Amino acid sequence: MTAFSIVLTMAISENTRLHYLNALGITVWQSRINETCSTFAEISLPPSSVNEDALPPDSWVVLRNQVIQCEQCILCTTRKQTVFGEGNPNAKWMFIGEAPGQEEDFHGTPFIGEAGNLLTEMLRAMQLTREEVFITNILKCRLPDNRNPHVDEIHACRDYLHRQIALINPKMIITFGQVSAQTLLEKMDSIENLRGQIHQFQQKPLITVHDPNDMLRSPIEKSKAWQDLQFALEAFKQHE
Ligand code: URA
Repeated sequence: MTAFSIVLTMAISENTRLHYLNALGITVWQSRINETCSTFAEISLPPSSVNEDALPPDSWVVLRNQVIQCEQCILCTTRKQTVFGEGNPNAKWMFIGEAPGQEEDFHGTPFIGEAGNLLTEMLRAMQLTREEVFITNILKCRLPDNRNPHVDEIHACRDYLHRQIALINPKMIITFGQVSAQTLLEKMDSIENLRGQIHQFQQKPLITVHDPNDMLRSPIEKSKAWQDLQFALEAFKQHE
């Protein structure tokens, strides 16, 4: 296990503990992440003693409320609102980007604006609609100045995404961009190395695609992304 994944595991356990306490109706006072969680060394949380098998079932209401109120990393200080994700809670397809941008932060909706329009068009070409899939991001808060996410920010948010995936139980997961792919696969490979394969996330097929923002910048990336989505369609038919 790498230092990266050890720290991730610890962060998950803390989130799970908070979920457990929240489900029991116990409010937990959490200090702000910029005081507790700004470097690798500082986020070494103690392992949880919670028996995960004894956890109460998760629910969208509990999860959404936790995301809305989340102050587990410094991004809560710069966001306008959290961007939980949207779509069909029983979706067969789940699309996961990196983080909301400025427009998404303003509207509270993932993938709008130019990148969002491109995603909507690609979905249409796959004979899918936004309403029948579920669209979300690794991070639920905007990154100031569109900077790359910090490891502690990914850790703080990762358990929310895992719980979304568990609630939806999709038949196919598509990640957009390198951060999204690396976070779910816990691999540091480049997107070029990761594309063109059917990976697994918790026994579900996962296919990596370039970030729609990169597709907007480069027609080559766009055509690679379209190849990858067609590959995903074929894989989906085989797994259905
Ligand atoms: N919009 C999002 O919500 N996420 C991305 O990764 C890109 C654009």
